[in-house]
Amino acid sequence: MLRCLTLTAEKDTEKIEDIRRSAEFIDAVEIRLDLCEAKTPEMVNSVVAESRRAGCGSVILSYRRPQDTADGPSDERDLRQEELRRDTLRRALQPGVSFVDLEYDATDDELRRRAESLGIRLIRSVHDFTGVPEELPEIVRSIAAAGGIPKIACYPRSSGQVLQLVRMCGEVQDVEEKIILGMGVFGFFTRTAPWICGSMLTFVSAGEKLAAPGQIGPREMEEIYEASRHGKKTVLFGIIGNPVMHTRSPHLHNRWFTDDGLDAVYLPFHVDDAGSFMELAETIGVRGFSVTVPHKQRIMEYLDSADEGVRRIGACNTVLRQRDGWYGTNTDLEGFLEPLKSLLAEGRIRQALVIGAGGAARTVVYALRQQGIEVTIVNRTAEKARALAAEMGAGCTGLEAAENASGAPFDLVVQTTSVGMEPVIEGDPLPQFRFSGSETVYDIIYAPEKTRFLRRAEDAGCRVIGGRGMLQAQAELQYTRFRDSYNLWV
Ligand code: ATR
Repeated sequence: MLRCLTLTAEKDTEKIEDIRRSAEFIDAVEIRLDLCEAKTPEMVNSVVAESRRAGCGSVILSYRRPQDTADGPSDERDLRQEELRRDTLRRALQPGVSFVDLEYDATDDELRRRAESLGIRLIRSVHDFTGVPEELPEIVRSIAAAGGIPKIACYPRSSGQVLQLVRMCGEVQDVEEKIILGMGVFGFFTRTAPWICGSMLTFVSAGEKLAAPGQIGPREMEEIYEASRHGKKTVLFGIIGNPVMHTRSPHLHNRWFTDDGLDAVYLPFHVDDAGSFMELAETIGVRGFSVTVPHKQRIMEYLDSADEGVRRIGACNTVLRQRDGWYGTNTDLEGFLEPLKSLLAEGRIRQALVIGAGGAARTVVYALRQQGIEVTIVNRTAEKARALAAEMGAGCTGLEAAENASGAPFDLVVQTTSVGMEPVIEGDPLPQFRFSGSETVYDIIYAPEKTRFLRRAEDAGCRVIGGRGMLQAQAELQYTRFRDSYNLWV
């Protein structure tokens, strides 16, 4: 699979520098004349020469119209400008350029002839920033039939549209040479795993300025997603969430896949509708995925089976494709217990106070009850604490009572609310709570590493546990499940 660096740097000298710096991560270079200071044959010549030195086999030449870029007006109709643009593009054609990009709706017989005489292939492009063109298969076929290479860059705005895009790509599987990419967060995985849409290449851009929404840098593409190593046979895993682009999970799982020598990739899927994602997962053959906010509960209705923890907690963070359907498990549960392992083994936790009664608290209370620990729940909304306590066989107490009881009977205090989490790090869910110093205090928040609540506990002499250990442990457990799933399917 080809990784094509689009030259987006402001200065032409930086563009040349970017090729040099990215050499080991790229196979092709795209010169966008519209982004060049000098839109001259000499500029193209120096890029061709540098690309050759960098070992990049292909150079694509394009001169994007304003309406085909993210920030351009959509009704640009300046004919004089258009004539100038075409003339510049024609003059820039030269040996060493492998492809020239001419928009699907533009006709230019002269450019065509000149390209042909130089052995330069024609890419015919469609840029749709409003969504996914319904006639995509027809466009692809008509371009291919005329000997061109279809390039469709579209902008899916929902999980439903991404599904539609992937299905349409399936209809034109037999067209081997084509470029199809989904821009933006919903389409991100089509850039990092371009073979899913049958794309012969993916674009990356160096530096600050992106050539299109969703693009990433050449180093990131290679070091996180190992674009050059993967292809049609690569087994797909990922994470669904909304938002999801900030997650570090792809860094972890992809590194583990590489360390184990598995041909698998872990992709972030921005998902607004779990049902559409499940159809996508079936269509492209996803074999396992992590689930994060806000889908941990919603995903449940799409599972064919689930372990007891998932059924009791009502939330799932790991979904695996088994031979007989989708199976849900929840590694948050074991991940939460992991940092407590030795204390539990020594029987040093008997009574726990859990702060919060939301989704995270459900996992924590269930896990502790499974270990035979007596649990008391305290929450801002008392009714929710009562309901959770009744369901899990725990007790509950009011905020004031908890603060007055401070320390005393609890050998473990677990903080599960979002209070104290970045960016509002000064929050404290129980500001009057006085620690005795003998209890273990566990805050499942991982950013910051130590919350204000945890720092107070530490100052009082308590043993403290932050959320990083749980995060790491649940991810490691999840990875072992993904590896099992990989082995099942390969
Ligand atoms: P999660 O899945 O992260 O647990 P959740 O289900 O929305 O998210 O639960 C959030 C928990 O944090 C709840 O216990 C919530 O208290 P309420 O039940 O009273 O809403 C608690 N929480 C959130 N913001 C809070 C705040 N500012 N002060 C105290 N508790 C708060």
